[in-house]
Amino acid sequence: MIYGTLANGVRMPLVGLGTYKIPIDKIPDVLESALAFGYRKIDTARYYGNEDAIGRYLALSGVPREELFISTKMDVEFLYYTLSFMGHRKKLPIRKESLRNAFFRQLERLHTNYVDMYMLHAAIPKYYKYWGNEVGKLYKEGYIKSIGVCSFSKHDFELFEAELGFVPMMNQIEISPYNTNKEIISFCKEKKVQVEAFATFGTTKKKPEAAKDLLENEIILDLSRKYNKSSSQVILRWVLEQGISVIPKASSKEHLRENIDVLDFELSHEDMLQIDTLDKSIFHRYFRR
Ligand SMILES: NC(=O)c1ccc[n+]([C@@H]2O[C@H](COP(=O)([O-])OP(=O)(O)OC[C@H]3O[C@@H](n4cnc5c(N)ncnc54)[C@H](OP(=O)(O)O)[C@@H]3O)[C@@H](O)[C@H]2O)c1
Repeated sequence: MIYGTLANGVRMPLVGLGTYKIPIDKIPDVLESALAFGYRKIDTARYYGNEDAIGRYLALSGVPREELFISTKMDVEFLYYTLSFMGHRKKLPIRKESLRNAFFRQLERLHTNYVDMYMLHAAIPKYYKYWGNEVGKLYKEGYIKSIGVCSFSKHDFELFEAELGFVPMMNQIEISPYNTNKEIISFCKEKKVQVEAFATFGTTKKKPEAAKDLLENEIILDLSRKYNKSSSQVILRWVLEQGISVIPKASSKEHLRENIDVLDFELSHEDMLQIDTLDKSIFHRYFRR
């Protein structure tokens, strides 16, 4: 495994497993294979509804807790309900409680007494102050080892820092060859914020066919033949070589194995640039414009 070091000195595996939409009954099988293949970082969220299944499996897995990197998130739907008196969308089982209480329930579900990374699941400025203050306290108390945000633009970082007085250590954003997001990546580098990519294979809610389209793109296929690696491995390597961590979601053994087997080759500078040319910047579904 390769590791990165966050601005606060915490070490984080640069390849992890995304778990959104892995059905709960499949979690044990997926995690069994993932741990056997060497995954040590697991990305989940309150919203995914699988924290309990993940925590239960990891606690009994025999892998020492300190070897694991567990990252989870708090969604803005929860914050919306907690902070407003206007009712809420009934999609999620949310009870009105403090973020602190809800966080401790997440810890219980994850069968652990700390998380390695705690993130704000979306970029909505009206929640920064409350979320940042509460999470800042939990960080000082040692329940959270590092603080992250999702889909933050430069403007979001500026608002957050002005309000809270600190900069989150990670920004989890959508990055794929079709959506290279260079501007925010270079801003994060300047601020020493680790960038983490999701939807790396171009999957989007609106265009589920985009993954197939990207994995079968001619440039990607040519490079796949050149390096004797799969399209997905070429794409993951292109992300990693930018110093960005990856968390591909996979449910089959083949995909799980393939996605972690990306540490034994390097793309040339020219090939990195060739992949950059695929950028269409059209999938900014998570960023506010
Ligand atoms: N912070 C946020 O707002 C946010 C948003 C979206 C996602 N995320 C996180 O990021 C993770 C990854 O993002 P994602 O789930 O959107 O998309 P993704 O990891 O880019 O793509 C997942 C899809 O690609 C397929 N796949 C995986 N490995 C493959 C391979 N080697 N070859 C071909 N196909 C492969 C998977 O199929 P199989 O399942 O069949 O293997 C699945 O259909 C999520 O699970 C979640 O943890 C965060």
